[in-house]
Amino acid sequence: MESAKNMSTDTKNSESPVGDLSEALKESTKDVHEQAENTEFMKNFQKGQVSLEEFKLVMSSLYFIYSALEEEIERNKENPCFAPVYFPTELHRKSSLEKDMLYFYGSKWRSVIHCPEAVKKYVERLHYVGQKEPQLLVAHAYTRYLGDLSGGQVLKKIAQKALQLPSTGEGLAFFTFDAVSSAMKFKQLYRSRMNSLDLDKASKEKVVEEARTAFLLNIKMFEQLQEITSQSQTAKKEETDVRKRVKHIANGQSHGAESNKNMSTVSSSPFLRYVLGFGFLLAVIALGLQAL
Ligand code: HEM
Repeated sequence: MESAKNMSTDTKNSESPVGDLSEALKESTKDVHEQAENTEFMKNFQKGQVSLEEFKLVMSSLYFIYSALEEEIERNKENPCFAPVYFPTELHRKSSLEKDMLYFYGSKWRSVIHCPEAVKKYVERLHYVGQKEPQLLVAHAYTRYLGDLSGGQVLKKIAQKALQLPSTGEGLAFFTFDAVSSAMKFKQLYRSRMNSLDLDKASKEKVVEEARTAFLLNIKMFEQLQEITSQSQTAKKEETDVRKRVKHIANGQSHGAESNKNMSTVSSSPFLRYVLGFGFLLAVIALGLQAL
């Protein structure tokens, strides 16, 4: 298959001088990479502070993104502006994400998962690029796949531990690249293939700019996922508070009912009624004598 061909020869080409597309991409996306790492969502994730709800949300969002990305990649697989970086067996994630969706949401997952607004924007951009500016598609493939083969592998371990997912890999298919034996070597191959694309300086700059856009689309996604999960946590807290208040009021009423019951015990006891009545009479007489 084309994608796995000439792996050793290609690896040698990665020693190209600075100014290559791969170098330009790495250099020019450093700041946005740092920004992505430092989003609240990602910072919490790195600390192992990720709930099952948050993880499911990010995985379903990735499902929408990879479906669009890989649809556009398939459309352009023979286009010379993308063909050298076409590695479906090694990289494509849609079918892995389908397995993860089934694991987390069950057999009706397609009708259950929801596409947040920020993810819709990302998906729209991928379709636009794939159909109108295919020479920029490599920027999106680079941003996601090389990221998945780098920091993604750290995130896999964190998620497995935090969510106590099975060591057999269920729920983590997305992070598992069965056809890539060495992530480091594969990334070298990918970089050399990017460098082999026939792009002039201006086109290279456009690809770099598009990669920055891709990072920003990821950042927007993380920001929205953070918002969604914070909102649902606030809603859950409010629900718990309301439940507590209702319980408190109900307890108060039962205390009130208890004291009413005590009062009715008093009023229904003839002896107590007599004692209270007699006391009241004595008080009236005492007041009358005082007034004389
Ligand atoms: C907690 C979040 C993240 C961590 C810990 C992380 C970590 C890393 C690490 C350690 C590398 C390897 C650097 C190297 O080999 O020199 C890397 C590379 C990369 N990461 Fe991330 N990353 C994170 C988030 C992201 C995100 C959100 C994206 C984009 C969606 C991304 C895209 C990339 C790309 C494209 C590369 C390859 C850079 C290159 O060699 O040209 N990363 N990341």
